[in-house]
Amino acid sequence: MKIFIPRESTAVSLGAHDVAQAFTHYASHHDIDLKIIRNGSRGLFWLEPMIEIETAQGRMAYGPVASSDVESIMADITDNICHEKPPCHTLALGLTEEIGYLKKQTRLTFARAGIIDPVSLDDYLALDGFKGLQKSLALSTQEIVTAVVESGLRGRGGAAFPTGIKWQTVRDAVAEQKYIVCNADEGDSGTFADKLVMECDPFMLIEGIIIAGLAVGANQGYIYLRSEYPIADEILQQAIKIANEAGYLGDNICGSGKSFNLEVRLGAEAYICGEETALLESLEGKRGMVRFKPPLPALEGLFGKPTIVNNVLSLAAIPFIMSQGSQAYQQYGTNRSRGTLPFQLAGNVKQGGLIELPFGSSLQDLIDDFSGGTASDRPIKAIQVGGPLGAYLPLNKLDIPLDYEAFSQASAVLGHGGIVVFDDSVDMLEQARFSMEFCVVESCGKCTPCRIGSTRGVEVIDRIKNNERRAENMTLLNDLCDTMIDGSLCAMGSMTPIPVRSAYNDFPQDFYLPTQESN
Ligand code: NAI
Ligand code: SF4
Repeated sequence: MKIFIPRESTAVSLGAHDVAQAFTHYASHHDIDLKIIRNGSRGLFWLEPMIEIETAQGRMAYGPVASSDVESIMADITDNICHEKPPCHTLALGLTEEIGYLKKQTRLTFARAGIIDPVSLDDYLALDGFKGLQKSLALSTQEIVTAVVESGLRGRGGAAFPTGIKWQTVRDAVAEQKYIVCNADEGDSGTFADKLVMECDPFMLIEGIIIAGLAVGANQGYIYLRSEYPIADEILQQAIKIANEAGYLGDNICGSGKSFNLEVRLGAEAYICGEETALLESLEGKRGMVRFKPPLPALEGLFGKPTIVNNVLSLAAIPFIMSQGSQAYQQYGTNRSRGTLPFQLAGNVKQGGLIELPFGSSLQDLIDDFSGGTASDRPIKAIQVGGPLGAYLPLNKLDIPLDYEAFSQASAVLGHGGIVVFDDSVDMLEQARFSMEFCVVESCGKCTPCRIGSTRGVEVIDRIKNNERRAENMTLLNDLCDTMIDGSLCAMGSMTPIPVRSAYNDFPQDFYLPTQESN
């Protein structure tokens, strides 16, 4: 009998190791032949640890499981599932693939997540693994780049710059040494998709990075990983070792005579090191300070050499694009937002988790279909999309389609796909203050509007809160936002005004301002 128990960090933090131990203990005491596979997660976090039993009809799920449930679950399995009867345990969820939360998704990037053992090369190969690489090895560098351009893939880190255009720039640059840098310093609030990729399907990321190397003529790659992700680090290290031993990395990739080496480098818990130039500084062993652009990293990046810096999700989309074809990816989505985005639902919701959908459905639909309502059972007041630099959206803006263009028109950002829900107990003035304070703490300090402006911003908001010359301070806050937008070198300073402004424009009552009803 095969039982799948996640080794992914959310499940582990909720007791998955204890559950695995309890199953092992039960099996040895009852002389049952039980094979425990430590898979990744399906991303249904409120059900973690979610365990699955292999049956002739497909995998049956139970969750959330505690070690104290193991005996009764084993009884349900032996009494019912083993006799092809439906399970009747209170934690039984039925066939995993039939769970609505999963069934309503379009999983391209997360197609294998939770299904495979993340460090089993056989599992990966059995589900189209390294097919994209095999196809790429038969193509010219330009043909690979053209395929990525035609897929319509845009950078999933937040800026949504066309990935193929970035690759073209690096490919066309003339240099003896080029690099691929994978930005795995996932720092946006409420986000975890990069972590899930690395913990559930690391070979997919490795494959995407190798293909990027082939496309632009780079033979060295680095994954810059935040040190807060120790399980992702462990799994990546194992997967890289296995890929090296199997000839997918190293001096002679799949016997092609081409080489590519890949290493993991750990960050040191600084949000700004998710900004690509600060990341490169850190990777070079220096303090994570933002560099001036130009020159673009595509031309002068790591150690001054042409470098692709791509987010985990951008690189993880590449194997699908190369194995299934650009059109297969491009057919999903809307406008210039093509393919799928793995949304990450978090905050005050009953059912937080990973939701991969094509661009274009509305935020309201996503909340209605997946959240299960607020965890507090109170009404929703605001939703922040796109991390700490994203806008707080009020209820009357939830019909906004989830695509880059629609969000930009609404002075909001989709960012890395993080969605954080707040109920009606939230004070939006406090949230605006938090946004400014976040900038104070995380600013690299290079430019004045960000370093000093954010500190002044906290003070101004405190004065508004304390009813000190409120109208005058509101004007000052607005002017300060303009200065930060116009005078900051990077997104940290120039985007902090987005959540601040959305807080006072869309929730004026929390700033003691006249509302439309009171006018
Ligand atoms: P950007 O718009 O300056 O650049 C986007 C990317 O395109 C960069 O890699 C840049 O080097 C590249 N690029 C631009 N023109 C190019 C050209 N002609 N050829 C080749 N490459 C070119 O945006 P930036 O500052 O890199 O990122 C800002 C975004 O990062 C924000 O939208 C924010 O949402 C996001 N962000 C994401 C975080 C996360 O945890 N994922 C954390 C913080 C911010
Ligand atoms: Fe550094 Fe802030 Fe300036 Fe960005 S905007 S370079 S984080 S001081």
